[in-house]
Amino acid sequence: MSKKPNVIAAEPPGDLTQSVLDGLKKPQKELSPVWFYDELGSFLFDNICELPEYYLTRAEIAIMRQHAPEMAQHIGRDAAIIELGSGTSLKTRLLLDQIEMPATYVPVDIAREHLLDAAGAIARDYPDLRVLPVCANFAQEFALPAYIANAERRVVYFPGSTIGNFDLADTQRLLTRIRGMIGGSGAVLIGVDLRKDPRVLHRAYNDEAGVTAEFNLNALRHLNRELNADFDLDAFEHAAIWVENKSRIEMHLVSKHDQKVHIGDEELKIRQGEHIRTEYSHKYTLESFADLVANADLSVTRVWMDPQKQFSVQLLEPRKLQ
Ligand code: AVI
Repeated sequence: MSKKPNVIAAEPPGDLTQSVLDGLKKPQKELSPVWFYDELGSFLFDNICELPEYYLTRAEIAIMRQHAPEMAQHIGRDAAIIELGSGTSLKTRLLLDQIEMPATYVPVDIAREHLLDAAGAIARDYPDLRVLPVCANFAQEFALPAYIANAERRVVYFPGSTIGNFDLADTQRLLTRIRGMIGGSGAVLIGVDLRKDPRVLHRAYNDEAGVTAEFNLNALRHLNRELNADFDLDAFEHAAIWVENKSRIEMHLVSKHDQKVHIGDEELKIRQGEHIRTEYSHKYTLESFADLVANADLSVTRVWMDPQKQFSVQLLEPRKLQ
């Protein structure tokens, strides 16, 4: 009989319409990347990960395949692995295959169906693993299952370079919360995309098949359904732009003509050529990332990279007092 995972917490509703309107009224219009990820968005993202131009997933998987045994040694026995934005949990399997049991796995994801399917499959395939899924937006405060307080070590697994999708202030806040989750003796295993030739980055986010464009536009489709908005998807086009001085790719939706959009009771004017920024994807050097985590009382204790040094998986631990 298969184990059935429990969902511990659900996302509190909050005033979504207002926060969307606030973003769209800024001089540089903005939309949270959270809007990419409904069921279709998660499916499109899985497709992006398979694109020939999108090197990130392949490089990270290659690192995991080669180095997961060593990572598992650092994690140790009876650990609780908390995965932020777990999705299909595919990379996690490479780690779980090497982890000493017993252990606990806490996948945290906002897409409920995806989360439950993936957690169910993990629970079936790893009968000695306790699987405790949490349905939450990990970018905000959420409650962890009380059970994991007893684990030998709490380890946050945050793959995929999702850390790159937060602005600097939110990155600091998130790293500080992660530091709180692991306590004084835990660790963080985090995927970090590295700075490289902007042409490689440009191709990765402007793929030929147009999957990234569809993923970007899906944020509007999601808003139409969830907030009863009336964005015309044909009236926007996708653009991904490298911003050198911020060391990041930015995803934008560019209005093809002057238009009016309705969200809730409000009407919003969007001019031809106006951009809505939908995502940042920061690219770090090893030095810039080490500086960043130091502000959250963490230090980098191990770095694994693919042979071309495109991507890194880094082990972070609480900083030791000198
Ligand atoms: C989830 N995140 C790490 C992806 C990235 O590369 O920044 C999201 C993405 N956006 C466009 N393509 C992929």
